[in-house]
Amino acid sequence: MGHPRVDAIAREAREAIAAAGSSAELEAIRVRFLGRGGALTQLLRSLGVLPAGERPSVGAAANEAKRELEALLETGLAEALETERRRLRARERQDLTLPGRRPPWGSLHPLSRVHDEIVSIFMGLGFSVVLGPEIESDYNNFEALNIPRDHPARDMQDTFYLSEDTLLRTHTSPVQIRAMQVQRPPVRIIVPGRVYRRDVPDMSHSPVFHQVEGLAVDRDISMADLKGTLELFAHEMFGPGSRIRFRPSFFPFTEPSAEVDVRCFICGGAGCRTCKQSGWLEILGSGMVHPQVLRNVGYDPEEVTGWAFGMGIERVAMLRYGIDDIRLFFENDLRFLRQFA
Ligand code: DAH
Repeated sequence: MGHPRVDAIAREAREAIAAAGSSAELEAIRVRFLGRGGALTQLLRSLGVLPAGERPSVGAAANEAKRELEALLETGLAEALETERRRLRARERQDLTLPGRRPPWGSLHPLSRVHDEIVSIFMGLGFSVVLGPEIESDYNNFEALNIPRDHPARDMQDTFYLSEDTLLRTHTSPVQIRAMQVQRPPVRIIVPGRVYRRDVPDMSHSPVFHQVEGLAVDRDISMADLKGTLELFAHEMFGPGSRIRFRPSFFPFTEPSAEVDVRCFICGGAGCRTCKQSGWLEILGSGMVHPQVLRNVGYDPEEVTGWAFGMGIERVAMLRYGIDDIRLFFENDLRFLRQFA
């Protein structure tokens, strides 16, 4: 064998194959020597221009070199592909023992939870949910509830007035008026909602907070019904061992009026920081609906009587979860909110 030009091409190709580092490089080498315009292909194609005596030996040498190079390329390519595949697999290998990534999981706001719980307890007792507007008339918010003109709550300092006689409701009690105006007794409703007061935020005050109003009006409704209902509520809300007490109080729209405390469930009544050593925690205001309020909505106080209460949702939530600052409910700090997930 042997022809100087064939040998030169073959040597160059062998060296290139030996030095190749990837399947792509080998493919480029194949094109360079054996492709349509490749060095060896060109040589084979130009055999015709050689003297007739040289053609057979050069042709034979070139064909042999071609077979050799094809074989070298084939093994080289197989090896290179195998190495590349192995490398890729190593890079993409999945660690099946790795814990999965948890997608962020939303949860109910603690106020929503307590709201839902309060609503469902009273719905179970046959109350229906009624809602009212947050922008309210002075009449519904104050006048119809028997709150006199000179009452401090009607002061510009305490109420957000929008005009002479519209305001942001300061409690959910005006919805009592709205409900009774459109409905004849019996009435059994609860009214959850947002209320507003001109308070500077601190640990126990927020200019926006939530209340649930309760109202029951019918023939022969008594204070005993109020006590029984609230006792049942407390057992559901704070546990079967919980106790409540009624403390005389005053509201212009109830007579008699009472504030209701629940036995402190932090200390069990012995006295602690949360209950300020009293053993009791105030949860709501209540009373028998004032006859004047009944008259204001066209009810006859000789015919029907009723009780009402107003409960702070934040207050209940704070007691329930041992939260000592009302502002936490409104800051939307995930570190706080996640604790209720
Ligand atoms: N509206 C009162 C307040 O915001 C709470 C209240 C007290 C509501 C007695 C009532 C009630 O329905 O009978 O402080």
